[in-house]
Amino acid sequence: MMTDEFPQPNQGPGVTRRRFLRTSLAGGAALLAGKSDVIFGAQSSTTPKMATNTTLKLGGDLTVNRLGFGAMRITGQGIWGWPPDRENAVKILRRAIELGVNLIDTADAYGPETSELLIAQALHPYPGGLVIATKGGLTRPGPGQWVPNGRPEHLKQAVEASLKRLRLERIDLYQLHTVDPKVPLEESLGALKQMQDAGKIRHVGLSNVDPDEIARARKIVPIVSVQNRYNIEDRKSENVLVYCEKENLGFLPWFPIGGGGGLKPENPLNAAAKAHGVSVVQAALAWLLERSPVMLPIPGTSSLAHLVENVAATKLKLTPEEWKAIDAVAG
Ligand SMILES: NC(=O)c1ccc[n+]([C@@H]2O[C@H](COP(=O)([O-])OP(=O)(O)OC[C@H]3O[C@@H](n4cnc5c(N)ncnc54)[C@H](OP(=O)(O)O)[C@@H]3O)[C@@H](O)[C@H]2O)c1
Repeated sequence: MMTDEFPQPNQGPGVTRRRFLRTSLAGGAALLAGKSDVIFGAQSSTTPKMATNTTLKLGGDLTVNRLGFGAMRITGQGIWGWPPDRENAVKILRRAIELGVNLIDTADAYGPETSELLIAQALHPYPGGLVIATKGGLTRPGPGQWVPNGRPEHLKQAVEASLKRLRLERIDLYQLHTVDPKVPLEESLGALKQMQDAGKIRHVGLSNVDPDEIARARKIVPIVSVQNRYNIEDRKSENVLVYCEKENLGFLPWFPIGGGGGLKPENPLNAAAKAHGVSVVQAALAWLLERSPVMLPIPGTSSLAHLVENVAATKLKLTPEEWKAIDAVAG
């Protein structure tokens, strides 16, 4: 998977899958029938802190529903070119909005260009309140290939090109896709600040960074969000999530449901979810949403049915007992 090749930021203590298997659900938490909006049974004596907010205000002025949509999967094979069924991609984007999604994550690199073009085709003129978060700073020499380019001139051109493709005058959230090891991040962020000062970007976000890089970036330009790989089985960016929570920055976990490879079949959530009529993906998304009030999962899909299933996960709630089990894993 291409994104697995990305260097991961400084790792916190993290959680291994084995440790998760050992402790999760072992405390007797069980799934209740799908008719309830509570999927895990409660036997708790303590009440862990669980996020219950359904929206988040990004940068103090953009209110988004916390379950977004990742538009990387609406492109062709290898995140390259057009999808085999373009009409289906358009339908998915429109359905996402109908279902209440108002945060769409994309990038100039997805396709390249085709993801942004499809978003404009499907949704322009955009409904009020829709936040399109795009990114720049990774180039695509070919299918499956991703090459950082954080040079200021490149980033400025990339912003202009995304504005054109998305048919926007200003991009609500522009994320530096990754830090280019050949370019000081201050220079890359300096270019984005110039674009912000010129009115072409509303807010700036980061992706694939560690807390030290976030702190450095914030000296150059206000940062409102961070996008790193994170899911129930991969919490290497826990330290970044903690930073975002403390500083009230949005945290967009990519691969929120495990990416193309999915979550491991033997994940304990799998059996439990199946036994009680919800999918493991829904359970994993519910866990993410409750993990932190700044969490903004952006699951990606090329399937209408999966989209509906993913959005329905916002109705599921983990009980404090389940939280206790998962917290124990993280200890
Ligand atoms: N900043 C970065 O470096 C970076 C890197 C990677 C991704 N991203 C962003 O993060 C978003 C999410 O990541 P992702 O799309 O790679 O991974 P993901 O959301 O964890 O997983 C997507 C995969 O899961 C499948 N899927 C989706 N819903 C499902 C369901 N209900 N049941 C079963 N399978 C399901 C999809 O296949 P189907 O198409 O068959 O549904 C697809 O293969 C991307 O779309 C992109 O916007 C950012």
